[in-house]
Amino acid sequence: MSTILIDPDTCSKCGTCLHICPLGLILKGEDSTPFMPDEVGAFCSKCGNCEAFCPEGAIYPEYSTRYPEISEDVKQGITPGALGIYMRQRRSVRNYQVKLVDRETIEEILDIVRYSPSGMNNQPVHWLIIHDPAEVHKLTRITIDWMRNVLASDALHPLKPVIPSLIAAYESGKDPICRGAPHVAIAHAPAANPMAFTDSIIALSWLELAAPAFGLGACWAGFLKIAASSSQELKDELGLPEGHEVQYAMMFGYPEYKVYGIPGREPARISWK
Ligand SMILES: Cc1cc2nc3c(=O)[nH]c(=O)nc-3n(C[C@H](O)[C@H](O)[C@H](O)COP(=O)(O)O)c2cc1C
Repeated sequence: MSTILIDPDTCSKCGTCLHICPLGLILKGEDSTPFMPDEVGAFCSKCGNCEAFCPEGAIYPEYSTRYPEISEDVKQGITPGALGIYMRQRRSVRNYQVKLVDRETIEEILDIVRYSPSGMNNQPVHWLIIHDPAEVHKLTRITIDWMRNVLASDALHPLKPVIPSLIAAYESGKDPICRGAPHVAIAHAPAANPMAFTDSIIALSWLELAAPAFGLGACWAGFLKIAASSSQELKDELGLPEGHEVQYAMMFGYPEYKVYGIPGREPARISWK
């Protein structure tokens, strides 16, 4: 079955959809009105680009992913200058206010993040939001316990050199794993999906980038992710669906400090041919 309907009365036959469809599933009909043959419908990835790029709004997907109309005042978009400042001002946030982010705000951000690209528009990312700060503390405690076991074992582990300082920080009352953040976002997906890791990293990057627009800050939780791949206690605590694994994790909350500047970075290394 075709996954789209094209309204012949509003279609201007401009052919944009033919060029836009990533798999070339839309063809020119006899009177030049485009159509998707029923026999290729199963290959449609439901990316919605034919709908999004149609100048006349003549394409109606048969799947339910339509988004509310974009209002005129936000249609203009963001200037490159403003975007450059916004993106460069993104910082890893490691100090948080003792203030919860309400669920509606988190859902609003994830509603943006679900538009991040994924291989073949597979959209494999699921979210486990650790909303309870006590549960975040528990994840830190389990991670530190796992680190103690790694340190005590004879096995080689790349984290061994840094583990003593992390344990010392924890024992002095700090949280070196989740940085005292009130919340953690866990991106998880079926372990068998070979593209899910990349898609999850992209989605988390969007989450981190979107956060400041909501007054929030975030930081990749690398230690937590490494522990979650090995520690059975941590896996049991997270209780992900059967067959799913943690792809990556990110802590977030209201930042304690404001970002004023933009630190230096290496110049872009570019070659041209
Ligand atoms: C994959 C990845 C894992 C990271 N893990 C941690 C972490 O476990 N703890 C932490 O404090 N920062 C972590 N970071 C943050 C980096 O240290 C940070 O991005 C880097 O120092 C650059 O600073 P900026 O993000 O403010 O530009 C991680 C970053 C990435 C990309």
